[in-house]
Amino acid sequence: VRVLDLIDDKKRGREHSPAEIEWLVKGFAADEVPDYQMAAWLMAVRFQGMSPAETAALTKAMAESGETLNLEGLPRPWLDKHSTGGVGDKLTLVVVPILIAAGATCVKLSGRGLGHTGGTADKLESIPGFRTRLSAMEILESAARAGGCLAAHSASLVPADAKMYALRDATGTVDSLPLIAASIMSKKLACGAGTILLDVKVGRGALLPDRKKAAGLARTMVGLAARSGRRAVAVLTPMDQPVGLSVGNALEVEEALAVLRGEGPGDVRALSIALAAEGLHASGLAVSGTDGAEKAARMLDGGRALEAFARVVAVQGGDPGVVFSLAALPRSRLSAGLPASAGGTVAAVDALAVGQSSVLLGAGRSRKGEKVDPGAGVALRVRAGDRVAAGDLLGTVYAADSTRLRAGLARLQQAFVWAGSPPAADTPFRTADQVIEVIREP
Ligand code: URA
Repeated sequence: VRVLDLIDDKKRGREHSPAEIEWLVKGFAADEVPDYQMAAWLMAVRFQGMSPAETAALTKAMAESGETLNLEGLPRPWLDKHSTGGVGDKLTLVVVPILIAAGATCVKLSGRGLGHTGGTADKLESIPGFRTRLSAMEILESAARAGGCLAAHSASLVPADAKMYALRDATGTVDSLPLIAASIMSKKLACGAGTILLDVKVGRGALLPDRKKAAGLARTMVGLAARSGRRAVAVLTPMDQPVGLSVGNALEVEEALAVLRGEGPGDVRALSIALAAEGLHASGLAVSGTDGAEKAARMLDGGRALEAFARVVAVQGGDPGVVFSLAALPRSRLSAGLPASAGGTVAAVDALAVGQSSVLLGAGRSRKGEKVDPGAGVALRVRAGDRVAAGDLLGTVYAADSTRLRAGLARLQQAFVWAGSPPAADTPFRTADQVIEVIREP
């Protein structure tokens, strides 16, 4: 086989054999296929798509491109959780402790912020001392001690995805359904869990804003799990408005901790319980979704989820004091409030604008490899439906310098949609606390 033939075939919409896909992925991971040829192939895939058999072969080849985790020594069920990415999406920090407290072993690899969306690895690293860069052995040891482990993606697990993702990011080929599905599911398969809980975000602030496309991605991922003898459940949740009120790394950890303590915004709690319920049901820890929701609520209300999170923090080197008092979490030096210029009712808060504001403030990256500011971000004061008077605070922004502060504040100002003003988008903003659809294996 020659790479050029594969590019030509894909360009013309012909189907590859599994052997051809395996050869291409192996060659790319081994630096034998150059970036420019892989980029051309990825663009052909972006336009021509892939059949279910091709997507499955790509996922398998990527999953097998590096080390894989063997969870055999850890108590069952093994339950993994993944979100396609959102704004203020700190749900992993609440859901994983609930699942651990309810008896699951959760070994989870998390990403860094991507575009305007945040990443769990960045959020966890805002906890002083918390280590996310762990070897496969350290991941398994941490999980044995704490019931779970929250680690960052590393070069040793699924190296083909790390390389391919960086290339997609730089060549406009991120928004391809089969490429996203293979990227996510190759990492899930390599981590060994028998049950995979997928939170697929839909709306203005999501990777795939369109509901039909997001549902297609969810179905593809559930199907890929089934082909590999795993069970997956995908929950479509809204990403038109931010989840909760805090966006930014330490700010989100703080809000997740509030929810784990039984406080915090209602939408974060409601979505966490809805997701955990599906995970508990799919993994056999609950007999139904309703039973799962009741169990999840008990884990939150009885403090057991908070204790599970404290154990994970301690085992991974983080300051356990953060869990019980907020004193140790970082906060950027400068802050500014955004007052309402006139009275009115907030119709919606645009997740995309808030996410972009938080990147400008320093909570995300504008260039590859840039360091994030753990203490930067947006603390909203209002949500859809709130009435405000002129001068009332809509939110506060935090940044390390005044240039960032001004840029973030200006972008945040554009996030508020007022009742009675012309709609900012063709589609209405969904509220952040309802599940849109649950997709299980047929
Ligand atoms: N998250 C991933 O891990 N991969 C993608 O391609 C998109 C989101």
